[in-house]
Amino acid sequence: MAESHDAVDVIRTKRDGHPLDDDQIDWVVDAYTRGAVADEQMSALAMAILIRGMDRREIARWTAAMIASGERMDFSSLSRPTSDKHSTGGVGDKITLPLAPLVAACGVAVPQLSGRGLGHTGGTLDKLESIPGWQASLSKEAMMEQLESVGVVVCAAGSGLAPADKKLYALRDVTGTVEAIPLIASSIMSKKIAEGTGSLVLDVKVGSGAFMKELDDARELAETMVALGEDAGVHTVALLTDMSTPLGLTAGNALEVRESVEVLAGGGPGDVVELTLALAREMLIGAGRSDVDPAEKLADGSAMDVWRAMIAAQGGDPDGTLPVARESEVLRADSDGVLSRLDALSVGVAAWRLGAGRARQGEAVQAGAGVEIHAKHGDPVRAGEPLLTLHTDTPERFERALAALQDAVDIHADAPPARDVVIDRVPATT
Ligand code: URA
Repeated sequence: MAESHDAVDVIRTKRDGHPLDDDQIDWVVDAYTRGAVADEQMSALAMAILIRGMDRREIARWTAAMIASGERMDFSSLSRPTSDKHSTGGVGDKITLPLAPLVAACGVAVPQLSGRGLGHTGGTLDKLESIPGWQASLSKEAMMEQLESVGVVVCAAGSGLAPADKKLYALRDVTGTVEAIPLIASSIMSKKIAEGTGSLVLDVKVGSGAFMKELDDARELAETMVALGEDAGVHTVALLTDMSTPLGLTAGNALEVRESVEVLAGGGPGDVVELTLALAREMLIGAGRSDVDPAEKLADGSAMDVWRAMIAAQGGDPDGTLPVARESEVLRADSDGVLSRLDALSVGVAAWRLGAGRARQGEAVQAGAGVEIHAKHGDPVRAGEPLLTLHTDTPERFERALAALQDAVDIHADAPPARDVVIDRVPATT
């Protein structure tokens, strides 16, 4: 069958700074998914989009075309409203683990279709897979049943949702075109809209450990995604949150599960608890349940009960012993003072090099590998005290992990200004 457009014409249109029309967008996304547009042609178009940008109409049409490339899920038959959260990814970002059961404990169903990590930010599924027996893959029927009975499911997204994005994201990853805001926004939102959630809260990270290093870029991404969600009828809010330093006191799969269970037990690091509650409140507002106080459900053990039920429903043992890495090494403070900087990207790269993350899709990760953090921004430290403990099963990895941490820490005599975890909200008010 003859094609209705020519890929080279579409590439030239964008290359020369003109907007793509609706037909061109529909055709190129569909033809790429079918294999009628070659990888090298889509690479050129992605680079032209990165350099030239897209207007709001183009981004909305591109997103719709990616949604149309696959199936859409529908949770409207559930007895409760649904809400989901998506994070653009950060170091030590284990928030989904306490957040999803907490929101379910508040009466809102949480369908969390998650992914595995690539690069220095870990994936939620990798973290949960460190729990003995826990299974990430569920049939649609099992997912619906668990959402009705437990109220929450965190599982692998099936290949049927936005297949165009799957193909395009893999291509962007190897062609230096991940960082285009129109492509990031349409990639994330096509999957979330196809997933069928009633409301959505976006955690858009900003800082060294995030995609978006600058606040203005993070705000533009957040505004673009909120507009896409609202246009598609999904109540969408974004929080801009700090990722200049790791979240909590752990980065690494089993280490992060342990910390999340501490949060569910009423303890855990202050920043993890604060962000969990801030996102929970937004999810409850989005689902029309702002009458419920998530702090109460965390304190009274209901969120922990849902966590245990969720882990057990997916074959996991909530009382199982989490894996611990065989070897460890301690990084110590070299002077007295106050910790004024602990760089997120450096810690993320160290955890990754220790075996907590993968460099290529499909690689195995070490469940016990990662970094434990003993001092946070603003904490007093003394020379010789432990700052970080590095964990791995394969000690030959220590050297490269320590190299990643060479400039990760600053210790000064004076206390640094306090830092907020939640920097801003889009839109600005409730
Ligand atoms: N996460 C996604 O799903 N897509 C992107 O483009 C970037 C992050």
